[in-house]
Amino acid sequence: MGTRESNEQAGGTGRRALLGAAVLGVGGTVLGPIGTARAAGARHGGGRGLKGLPVPTIVGHRGASGYRPEHTLGAYQLALDMGADVVEAGDLVPTRDGHIVCRHEPEIGGTTDVADHPEFADRRTTKTLDGVPVTGWFTEDFTLAELKRLRAVERIPANRPHNTLYDGRWEIPTFEEVLRWQDEQTRKRGKQVWIYPETKHPTYFRGLGLGLEERVAKLLRRYGKDRRNSPVILQSFEPTSIRRFSRLVDNPLVVLLSNANSRPWDFVEAGDPRTVADLITPEGLEEIASYAQGIGPTLDLVIPRDRNGRLTEPTTLVRDAHRAGLILHPYTLRNENPFLPADFRRGTDPDAYGDVFGAYRAYFATGIDGVFTDHPDTGLLAREDFVND
Ligand code: G3P
Ligand code: CA
Repeated sequence: MGTRESNEQAGGTGRRALLGAAVLGVGGTVLGPIGTARAAGARHGGGRGLKGLPVPTIVGHRGASGYRPEHTLGAYQLALDMGADVVEAGDLVPTRDGHIVCRHEPEIGGTTDVADHPEFADRRTTKTLDGVPVTGWFTEDFTLAELKRLRAVERIPANRPHNTLYDGRWEIPTFEEVLRWQDEQTRKRGKQVWIYPETKHPTYFRGLGLGLEERVAKLLRRYGKDRRNSPVILQSFEPTSIRRFSRLVDNPLVVLLSNANSRPWDFVEAGDPRTVADLITPEGLEEIASYAQGIGPTLDLVIPRDRNGRLTEPTTLVRDAHRAGLILHPYTLRNENPFLPADFRRGTDPDAYGDVFGAYRAYFATGIDGVFTDHPDTGLLAREDFVND
């Protein structure tokens, strides 16, 4: 895969606050005009498959999860309605009977109403997940039929009180339902819909006899979406999961990278001493490029923050990754104050928006190829500013 660099300088617009506020106030309706932002000058790679996406690519993180409970068809649908280039549908975990469902983690107490189901009270337990004790309810202890009785709720109501309006509205989607939804939406919109599923805790699940990659690959094959130019990008924090995919399917592959001093859990289990800091050296990136097309670093690997949470100078990661032929889709930009670098917070309210456009300007100026965001409409406006300035 060729390198795509974004050298344009950042800019601003007066329309953004108005549109952002409108989204919060409407609730449930399709916000057509917001989608027009995507037509306004985003650069296309000019190729097929991944190379044909607009750059910087706006990825709806867990759907439009800033506005709807995450990983629901409601959140995915709104991301598309807003004009997201790609929808992260979804983070993938298995059920006891081997189905693949869309949840950010196996524990579902924080994102569903499982605690309100007395029939499942005895499933509450404590497990060690990637070395960390976690208490709650776990997808691998439920059949798909049982999970389908639950309904999704907002994960962070303190930051997103409006989203609780939608608590109880949507069920947990399966990955197969997402693949069908993708085809339906592609037909309906006359435009290819892209998704960006992620394997969650693949080593943990393999240890339970619930390997993710073969199941995901089988579904991709069944729906004819296992090719190099298929509109499905696969991602994982565990490099061996991506390596495994590289032997099963031809889809574009992205290795996620957490903080520099962290170790991917598959490395921990295998006794591989390398940390993320080792993976982002030129040699580490070359190795990733031997089986993947991109990396998804945490934003702090692109521009570190100082001890006060303010942005410092960009690292060489964008340059180094591009030299290795890798694209970068960092995660995650969110509009609310607590998630922004301190420079861009406005006041202290946890549910108030900061100057997220300022943050976008800083990150886009580094040359990243795209970004995951909970608020795709805001990301699209920021891109419009960036490419038109
Ligand atoms: O997949 C990119 C980003 O989603 C990684 O973070 O924890 O939200 O899955 P997480
Ligand atoms: Ca994810």
